[in-house]
Amino acid sequence: MNKLFAAIITVAIVFGITSCQSNKKDNAMIEKTSFGKTSKGEEVYLYTLTNESGAQVKITNFGATVVALYMPDRNGNLQDIVLGYDNVSDYEKGTSYFGAIVGRYGNRIGKGKFTLDGKEYQLATNNGENHLHGGNIGFNKVVWQVLKTDAADGGAEIALKYVSKDGEEGYPGTVALTVTYKLTKDNELEIDYSATTDKPTIFNPTHHSYFNLSGNPENTILDNELMINADKFTPVDAGLITTGKLEDVANTPMDFRKPTRIGARIEDNFEQLKFGKGYDHNWVLNNYDKTVKLAASLYEPKSGRFMEVLTDQPGIQFYSGNFLDGTGSGKNGKPYKFRTGLCLETQHFPDSPNKPEFPSVRLDPGDTYRQTTIYKFFTK
Ligand code: BGC
Repeated sequence: MNKLFAAIITVAIVFGITSCQSNKKDNAMIEKTSFGKTSKGEEVYLYTLTNESGAQVKITNFGATVVALYMPDRNGNLQDIVLGYDNVSDYEKGTSYFGAIVGRYGNRIGKGKFTLDGKEYQLATNNGENHLHGGNIGFNKVVWQVLKTDAADGGAEIALKYVSKDGEEGYPGTVALTVTYKLTKDNELEIDYSATTDKPTIFNPTHHSYFNLSGNPENTILDNELMINADKFTPVDAGLITTGKLEDVANTPMDFRKPTRIGARIEDNFEQLKFGKGYDHNWVLNNYDKTVKLAASLYEPKSGRFMEVLTDQPGIQFYSGNFLDGTGSGKNGKPYKFRTGLCLETQHFPDSPNKPEFPSVRLDPGDTYRQTTIYKFFTK
């Protein structure tokens, strides 16, 4: 009897201590501060999500944009590992899509034209003769509604919504998109998209963070080791429009099946790299089956930061920051120079509306577009 009593007390104490510790540890939180006003006078906010170990993501409802992302290096030092700006007016003026949700269509549509159910649509040609990242006022340049913020299970999340009206930027159908960012207790930044339309349309949003895992944006990304889980990529023409072909990466500088230094082959005399002024291509992810799986990984040897990208999308755009040119000023007044940030944008293939051989980007009324992409951080 005494033994039983002792056992019960022991169990009670152990459970008591455990729940007390986890309560104490669970200091995940969300803070909301002003991020200024847009040129139209709309108030925008900055939401700081902190997980139980202190990792942080700062998100503004202007463009549903990741403004800052603090992750530990191998010594536990938290540093900001994404490029961006200090205030909303710089995001309004900016042309780099730092950290934003891009839409309705991530990447390019040739000559801004596509045909759907026999009707031709003309979109803005805001990138030479082509359409890029949703047009003149894409999802990155509008104020989103904040649906909810929540801190639980050692992590924190924010859900944002944008309704793009029928005809906006030339696209058919009113599209309602909700994007939820979750910072988990395991240092994952998960991005969930969900969208519906009231008319047939095309839809292909993506996330456009520029990562510099070194934590110091004065360093280039050329020493980072990149892996992309793809046997093929979609070659482009001189205007960076996909040709419709899939090409093997084997024996080319596009082969990242094993982790490889980005700088190792970026200056090779390879036509695709000349067209992109470096890497600016879509890779065809292996074994696409609409489930979330490992697409890419990135390692920065000095800090020891290691990132995995998981997605349910068929493609990933690796853009090595070739258009960063040191003009303008980023966070803390510092300009971002050539190749000091890189994007890994999970997506459908560029110009899919004009390439029936590519997976379809059509969205119909009654269907729900979904995407899950996870950027997961470790150290090595
Ligand atoms: C594109 C680049 C473009 C950049 C804009 C990337 O997604 O692939 O060609 O210049 O976005 O910042």
